[in-house]
Amino acid sequence: MTEAMDAEFDTVAEWTAQVARDLGPDYFVPAGCRGSGNPAALDWLVDRLELTPGESLLDSGAGVGGPAGYAVSRVPVSPVLVEPQIGACRAARSMFDYPAIQAVADALPFSDNAFDGAWCLGVLCTTDAQQQVLTELRRVVRAPGRIGLLVFVATTDLPDDQQPDGNNFPTEKSLQQMLDTAGLRVDARINTTDLPPIPQQWQDRVEAVDDALERRFGGEEAWQIAERQSGRMGELLGDGRVSGVVLSLRRTS
Ligand SMILES: C[S@@+](CC[C@H](N)C(=O)[O-])C[C@H]1O[C@@H](n2cnc3c(N)ncnc32)[C@H](O)[C@@H]1O
Repeated sequence: MTEAMDAEFDTVAEWTAQVARDLGPDYFVPAGCRGSGNPAALDWLVDRLELTPGESLLDSGAGVGGPAGYAVSRVPVSPVLVEPQIGACRAARSMFDYPAIQAVADALPFSDNAFDGAWCLGVLCTTDAQQQVLTELRRVVRAPGRIGLLVFVATTDLPDDQQPDGNNFPTEKSLQQMLDTAGLRVDARINTTDLPPIPQQWQDRVEAVDDALERRFGGEEAWQIAERQSGRMGELLGDGRVSGVVLSLRRTS
């Protein structure tokens, strides 16, 4: 992980949970969705993955756990979170009482077929081990392999200095090749631009968390680095050089 990624995914993750705890439980899920920002993407995945009560759901690269919290609010599944940053694991444990394991998505500490379903949201572009992340998801999810992905893909060549530090966006073509190699097929897909807009109440809560973070930690270098990272990501998405794709996958065999 680069210094910028540590700032964004570790230090600021922990600060986010501190702020959300002060604001109250209504803020936990919006504060905790750090890649999957739009709840409509999560609704789409919960439906397409056909999650049912009591099923196990692995959140691989879970950040601070907001997406898992959202899934449980829709269907009472049993999430297990995997996340390499200890600050994010602690943040997740403090807001959502799910098992949070410090580990990497490209070498999951689970046996084959351990989970009913899994998702991996906004993670692929933050690691070079993209093929292994997909292969590991295929390995640990039992047939038919209900796996959800949110992936940010490059639509054009992106020089390093235009990307958030440490990011490596796949293209549609390289993503498809990696899915084939992992033994996964696309069952359904939607572009994030085709999802319903973020509800006003959700946006208000995200803004309240951001304002409180800025007030409390705005002078800190880690906050400024994380803001630059998310600013660059916003620009890439805004002008279409990167686009968000949500996929519902199944095993090919
Ligand atoms: C953009 S955040 C998304 C967090 C969360 N999935 C969400 O949607 O809110 C990307 C996350 O991927 C994690 N990450 C980076 N490399 C990883 C790896 N090799 N294995 C698992 N997680 C990783 C980062 O620490 C960070 O928490």
